[in-house]
Amino acid sequence: MADLIDEHGRHIDYLRISITDHCNLDCFYCTPFGGRTRMSHKEILRYEEVLQIVEAAVIAGISKVRITGGEPLVRKGMVELCRMLADIEGLESLALTTNGVFLDRWSLPLFEAGVRRINVSLDTLIPDRYRHITGGNYHHCVLNGIERAEAVGFFPIKINTVVMRGINDDEIEDFARLTFEKPFHVRFIELMPTNGQSSNSQASLFVPVEEMIRQVKSVGDLCLEHETESFGPARMCHFKGGIGKVGFITPMSRHFCNACNRLRLTAEGKLRTCLFSDKEINIKKPLRAGASTAELADIFRRAVKVKPQKHDLTHNRHELLGRAMYAIGG
Ligand code: 5AD
Repeated sequence: MADLIDEHGRHIDYLRISITDHCNLDCFYCTPFGGRTRMSHKEILRYEEVLQIVEAAVIAGISKVRITGGEPLVRKGMVELCRMLADIEGLESLALTTNGVFLDRWSLPLFEAGVRRINVSLDTLIPDRYRHITGGNYHHCVLNGIERAEAVGFFPIKINTVVMRGINDDEIEDFARLTFEKPFHVRFIELMPTNGQSSNSQASLFVPVEEMIRQVKSVGDLCLEHETESFGPARMCHFKGGIGKVGFITPMSRHFCNACNRLRLTAEGKLRTCLFSDKEINIKKPLRAGASTAELADIFRRAVKVKPQKHDLTHNRHELLGRAMYAIGG
């Protein structure tokens, strides 16, 4: 298999694909001021186009794909897409990030389609709070969804929790305790600035990782795990006597750009080389103009050449992302 190596020596083998900018939730930190705009239907990549792009990506050296949104499970036919993606030779791992609201219904079909890894976004264990954060009354659906995903065999199930001061920072210990009962990987994420928050609220909601670790340590005897590739950007730990893992994702206080192995494909067919760089490469245009899969693979090779060495995101730099998080897929 080919290797895709960027100008800074990083192996790029991971593509995150947003298949829709639509989401059935409205989390305040993800929704930009002025509300959301929707991509027009004809701008969004059709499934056969996504398929051709992934075939090209795999030729270029991508071996792992994650489907994101918006919320991927709101797009019709997405299980069929997963089945076709899973059949691509050379694609070793197919994963999904979801808010879990429809996971009860779709766990089994997804598993049968070949998806094995699933990340569920869940910021609170308290139903009322869930409604406050997401605008939706679906907390029980998410819990049922996670349970079903576990029952049909997804492993590991990763739970992503964005920690926010005054919103859910009093639940860190409860989330951590889950790993005594369940084999979940609970991953606490530092809030990243997006255009959903004013610079003031960004600073006041932010909880640095040291503080999260302090709270987690109060729950049990925490052991740091050796870093392995499969943990991605998370630093993973486990409790003595626990069956799951606890992780910390620190885009702000300790960015992981030097280990970044990813590219992103937006729902409307733009390749993004860094979550926090608005420089995008339009792959849809050549695709719709009839480019061959080999030519598209070349676009991947060119894209990694312009991947920034690191993002310079800090709380003092409030230039907003050109795209809202829901339109990139996190
Ligand atoms: N900061 C940190 N994580 C975020 N996500 C969305 N917006 C932000 C933000 N501003 C996370 C979601 C989900 C993943 C797709 O991205 O909570 O876990």
